[in-house]
Amino acid sequence: MAEKEIVDFLIIGSGVAGLRAAIELASHGSVLVVTKDRPTESSTEYAQGGIAVALSDEDEVGIHFEDTLKAGDGLCREDAVKILVEEGPERILELISWGAEFDREGTKLDFTIEAAHSRKRILHAHGDATGRELERVLLNKVRSFPSVKKYPFAFTIDLIIRNGKCYGAYILKDGKVNAIFARATVLCTGGAGQIFSRTTNPLVATGDGIAIAFRAGAVLEDMEFVQFHPTSLYSPLAPQFLLSESMRGEGAILRNINKQRFMENYHPMAELASRDIVSRAIISEMVKTNSDHVYLDLTHLEKEFIKKRFPRIYSTCLQYNVDITKELVPVSPAAHYIMGGVKTDTNGATNIKGLYAAGEVACTGVHGANRLASNSLLEGLVFGARAGRTAASELRVKSSELRVLEDLKTPNSELITHHSSLPDHEEIRHELKKLMWERVGIIRCGESLGNAREKLAGWSFILNKTFLTRRELELKNMLTVAELITEAAILRKGSVGAHYRSDFLQRGEGWQRHITWKKGDKELKHEFVR
Ligand code: SIN
Repeated sequence: MAEKEIVDFLIIGSGVAGLRAAIELASHGSVLVVTKDRPTESSTEYAQGGIAVALSDEDEVGIHFEDTLKAGDGLCREDAVKILVEEGPERILELISWGAEFDREGTKLDFTIEAAHSRKRILHAHGDATGRELERVLLNKVRSFPSVKKYPFAFTIDLIIRNGKCYGAYILKDGKVNAIFARATVLCTGGAGQIFSRTTNPLVATGDGIAIAFRAGAVLEDMEFVQFHPTSLYSPLAPQFLLSESMRGEGAILRNINKQRFMENYHPMAELASRDIVSRAIISEMVKTNSDHVYLDLTHLEKEFIKKRFPRIYSTCLQYNVDITKELVPVSPAAHYIMGGVKTDTNGATNIKGLYAAGEVACTGVHGANRLASNSLLEGLVFGARAGRTAASELRVKSSELRVLEDLKTPNSELITHHSSLPDHEEIRHELKKLMWERVGIIRCGESLGNAREKLAGWSFILNKTFLTRRELELKNMLTVAELITEAAILRKGSVGAHYRSDFLQRGEGWQRHITWKKGDKELKHEFVR
């Protein structure tokens, strides 16, 4: 029989949103943070450029609000954006009081600029290791609460749902299925970049939270909006390593393989145009020059400045024989962030009682159709704290309900007896990633999306299987998310924000509507922007 455990609060995921939620919940009961890898293995840890916040003398929250709406291309939920920009400064000052060391110019915080920001408002730490600094400070803070426990290498198989309420989750840990019963469950599992063959995301970003929430009956929203980052290192010998947008913020230039600067031909903001515009311009140059990459050029910048400002990028590229101070760096776009996800209100609540979500897995509508650079770490802090606060105050599940459930024979015994294995799962994973990159990537059209739909349908038998290994469970989740993105992209017959259809270049009729989807719905639904 599988192990059972009761906690007050279960948090799934240990990036910025999960840790910030844990801190909020620590004084309200027992908290368990489960994560499928090491606690530090999340997109937060790898975030380079920084965290946007209106704290500089030249900035105002109102300007940050306007820039976020503009990047979101008409589909942001304004109440969520207002909360983000207004509560952001308080969350950052709190982080500094907990020991966060952001880079300074003398005694003043040093702000940089990134694409589509009209002010310098990006804080950074240790040059280009901002996410790592956040993770360090938040983990230290979490460790100071005896009420918070962590289970690393614990994979969430599915949520425990009875009568439309969430009572925790089934976790695969040390090869065994554990039922963790909780009075509130907060999903903070991050993104899904791994469903594309080119991505800046770490290996853990397989869309697990989106898929398990969908299977549990949660409403998903805006799944067609995937952001592609223009510059990830392109070398057959190197991993797909992010080259931060802040490099362009500090003056780096994009050149095609003939060494010609090209961004000025595409947009007045040149290298600092929004990510979707820069990514498409790069693809266009790659097609024109019959190449699989372009170059990022920093050679006109001072060598010592580059080494000090981008130490992690400098040393990583050097490991792969690219000296960014002396030579052009081969780059190409890669999947970076999913704007859609589990639909929540601005307090992190989903449509399922007892289930909350925050960070990249959630869709508060704060990013609209395209996320403003460096807004995601801030989102994790602001909405992680809010989701934690709401979970503590609502407590939709009574302790007595958990005790009754605990006595029931839980279906996890079924999980164990009926599990399957899929010998060719690595091959399917590889093909799935390639399919999504080629057919549902930066530039989509009816034909490419139709091909993807057909191919995905051929793998749909996997969705009904029960697996008990991490890689197979991940594949099942990746397939679910791939289908959701593809179907939403087919339905949106127009180009908005990061969703670009070469067969529908205009926004299209009814473009202000959000696409939502819940398991069991016969078809995707449209909902008007709030
Ligand atoms: C970057 O440093 O370019 C990534 C920042 C972000 O995605 O917000």
